[in-house]
Amino acid sequence: MYKTILGIETSCDETAAAVLSFDPAQDKQKGIRILSNIVASSAAIQSKYGGIIPEQAAREQLKSIIPVIQEAINESRLTINEIDAIAVTFGPGLIGSLLVGVETAKTLALVWNKPLIPVNHLVGHFYANFIDKVSKEGKVSEVSNESTQNPPLDTFGTFDTSPTFPIIGLLVSGGHTDLVLFTDHNKYQYLGGTRDDAAGECFDKCARLLGLPYPGGPEISKLAATGDASKIKLPKPMTNSKDLDFSFSGLKTAVANYIDKNKNYKHKDLAASIEQTIIESLMNKTLQAVKEYGINQVMIAGGVAANQALSEALRKSLHVRVFSPSHNIFCTDNASMIAAAGFFSEEITKPLDLQANPNLSL
Ligand code: KG4
Ligand code: ZN
Repeated sequence: MYKTILGIETSCDETAAAVLSFDPAQDKQKGIRILSNIVASSAAIQSKYGGIIPEQAAREQLKSIIPVIQEAINESRLTINEIDAIAVTFGPGLIGSLLVGVETAKTLALVWNKPLIPVNHLVGHFYANFIDKVSKEGKVSEVSNESTQNPPLDTFGTFDTSPTFPIIGLLVSGGHTDLVLFTDHNKYQYLGGTRDDAAGECFDKCARLLGLPYPGGPEISKLAATGDASKIKLPKPMTNSKDLDFSFSGLKTAVANYIDKNKNYKHKDLAASIEQTIIESLMNKTLQAVKEYGINQVMIAGGVAANQALSEALRKSLHVRVFSPSHNIFCTDNASMIAAAGFFSEEITKPLDLQANPNLSL
């Protein structure tokens, strides 16, 4: 096991690098500290177009990758010699974006002579739950390509406990909605997933219908907090199906139809109903998985895990321990989760053999 890892993540519109250290004196589940966590997001630029333009996201990745890696190393206060390995997201994602991170990581691994650990982005998301604490000395930096802010790392404090196994994982992001049963690190069984749109995608598409900017999840959530979900009934697809699959594209269509046919409704009530419908669907199937497999822990991950109402609803209704990343910055795409997954991975690749895989699955 390596003591320090540089993580690199470029699967979509975030360019991220982080340095994490592992204290071998602690038990295996504990002792992972973030020394630096840098995220440059082109979401503000993408927002002007209502969604991601892959070509443009890739260009932004290319502009940001070297400065972001450099900042992550500087903030960690380690020298390059003190970094033991590099972990990189190699899929799934947008091919142009992925290539930037993968080719950079390959080059650095070769030039610096470091082991290279390939990480599946989807597995990486779950590892946001395994980061033990954030170093007091360093900084977590969240920079937009248009503006820069550097909140100090100790804003995020210490995480109490890490999940143990077996555990049900619910991944809810812009591109994925998956239920997984983890029996150990890197040992998991796929239980079900969305048949069409992902939960985050549904938030984003509904937000667009409501005239809200991209990314739509946080916007709907903000509006929903002041609305009344009971005023507008929306269909709940697949609630009675016996499998552990989800479907969200019908909800987007129902929202489009509702907007077409009704004039006197409040946007905040529709937002509240959309959010509640998505949460109920996620909750029902997670509950079903918990019962079916007799598991008493759940971890949520991915951008939609930043939704406070979702984590609260799961905690209230499941009667099992529910883990979620300690801060929103670890729910959305970041490189700390990739480095953390790297700590527990036993896979190393020869740099020249690694290929980005946009269609990688769980
Ligand atoms: O994991 P992520 O950063 O990127 C992917 O790998 O897809 O997830 C982005 C998604 C977007 O669809 C965004 O609308 C959603 O996460 N999201 C939220 C919230 N924050 C981000 N959805 C609901 N509520 C939120 N608070
Ligand atoms: Zn993601």
